[in-house]
Amino acid sequence: PHLATLLQAMPKAELHVHIEGTLEPELIFALARRNGLELPYPDIDSLRRAYAFQDLQSFLDLYYAGAAVLQREEDFYDMGMAYFRRAAADNVVHAEIFFDPQTHTVRGVEFGTVIAGLERARRDARDTLGVGSELIMCFLRHLPQESAFETLAAALPYRDRILGVGLDSGEVGNPPGKFTEVFRRCRELGWHAVAHAGEEGPASYIWSALHDLKAERIDHGVRCLDDPRLVAHLAEHRIPLTVCPLSNVMLKVYPSMERHTLARLLEAGLCVTVNSDDPAYFGGYVNRNYLACFEALPELGAREAYRLARNSLDASFAPETDKQRWR
Ligand code: ADE
Ligand code: ZN
Repeated sequence: PHLATLLQAMPKAELHVHIEGTLEPELIFALARRNGLELPYPDIDSLRRAYAFQDLQSFLDLYYAGAAVLQREEDFYDMGMAYFRRAAADNVVHAEIFFDPQTHTVRGVEFGTVIAGLERARRDARDTLGVGSELIMCFLRHLPQESAFETLAAALPYRDRILGVGLDSGEVGNPPGKFTEVFRRCRELGWHAVAHAGEEGPASYIWSALHDLKAERIDHGVRCLDDPRLVAHLAEHRIPLTVCPLSNVMLKVYPSMERHTLARLLEAGLCVTVNSDDPAYFGGYVNRNYLACFEALPELGAREAYRLARNSLDASFAPETDKQRWR
């Protein structure tokens, strides 16, 4: 109970949340109605019941279908504000938020519409909730690098509003090296680089994210434990891992939270952080992720709680002056 209070109250950063993954079933239905769209589920409860995933791909199918209700600027605004209210309730002081422009541009939604809605939500969240945030644009790795280059071209008018690039969607069969050239171009623009790697894919994909993409953080990264040399490299260079415990259990990366390797990763000296990934789909926002681990893993106590929250602030791309203010 004491630990739960600490986990709730700690100021923290969230570094791995897909804004499209914060679309709650209630909001999916509300936006579908507002936009005159028919959903393949009769009601909210039957949609929620469909959230029983076998693996990453079975989740992605529902996640992309859900995101199809987003059409207008106010849809992106409403989604953003709903997330920021949850973040504020969890004492998130800073969020670096992923968005998937290709999911929207293929449906004919303009890049500028996505950015405008999210930007307005970011500004209102900062002013009314005290939650600071940044945007990280993700390329969908199941699409060709050519599509990523087209997305980059569409993003250029908004380059100052984007902090970095990431890589997400179906991992296995789509190694980071597929995107070497587009990431090089993004880094030349001054953007930060991160990538999902070692979620379902092998440790070699984490090496590829580091060498080919020059990723500064690894999203998930839990499969690094298969390669002791990689663990040593990540620890030595203090490359953060943005771990998402509830996601890992829901997508069957681990059979249960009791079997999660979060404590082992910390024990190995890695800069581990706890994040929510797609909280509307995986059963909770960031504090629920902390709580679920601390309830399931006896190795975790107050020291680890402070360490994880501190890591999240350190691992963020926020200016050093902000980091000093939070600590
Ligand atoms: N897109 C949204 N969530 C994701 C995840 N956990 N892995 C890969 N792509 C994603
Ligand atoms: Zn993710």
